[in-house]
Amino acid sequence: MSRTPFLAGNWKMYKTGAEAVAFIEAAKPLLAGTSGRQAALGVPFTAIGEAATAAQGTGILIGAQNVHWEKEGAFTGEISVGMAKAAGASFVILGHSERRQYFGDTDEWVAKKLAAAVDGGIVPVVCLGESLAQRESGDTFKVLGAQIRGSLAGLTAERAAALILAYEPVWAIGTGKTATKEQAQEVHAFLRGELGTLLGDRAASETRILYGGSVKPDNVKALMGEPDIDGALVGGAALKPDSFVQIVKFDL
Ligand code: 13P
Repeated sequence: MSRTPFLAGNWKMYKTGAEAVAFIEAAKPLLAGTSGRQAALGVPFTAIGEAATAAQGTGILIGAQNVHWEKEGAFTGEISVGMAKAAGASFVILGHSERRQYFGDTDEWVAKKLAAAVDGGIVPVVCLGESLAQRESGDTFKVLGAQIRGSLAGLTAERAAALILAYEPVWAIGTGKTATKEQAQEVHAFLRGELGTLLGDRAASETRILYGGSVKPDNVKALMGEPDIDGALVGGAALKPDSFVQIVKFDL
């Protein structure tokens, strides 16, 4: 089963709506005619609408970086799946390490947000990753095993059809320190095995697992050459149209 490469930017807390439009207008001609891959941008909530309009006809998917699990309610400052979708989001990044670290996202919350994304018909991109201390103490697989079980709790094989996972070692995010392709492949193979145990062979073979952490135009091709690396989730290098486009066109 072939897994279409998924090359996504995570803009974090960068760019207004107008800046998003300017980025997409600049990327559009550079991406024209590119096939065989999915390009995507996770943008701030306030830029979703304008970005989605600008991205029409480009093939670039626009997504959110978080959602609440309830449909509506007294949750000051939060956005539901339905609201993100109505604004133009077709995917959502869930459980990014910055959300886990600074905003209290837990595996339990990620599982609830994942269920809401599936119910609402948007693609969940669930992030997992170990810290440097956890890696150095030899706990990488123990930590990731617990994270994947907790974050996918309650998900069934039938509901996992659109699921995307992202392995983002915390020590590689924004540090310029990329995992080697061998380190990343080892973890991706482990996560695919865990998917098999949790959701069965089909989910294991069809679910795309992205790598994130200091992905750049000059290292993406080597990472993408590994059998279990199906895409990238890119922070800093996705903020400029030319470097984002180079990443999307990693093999061209
Ligand atoms: P960098 O690409 O800036 O290391 O960020 C990775 C990331 O957090 C993507 O979600």
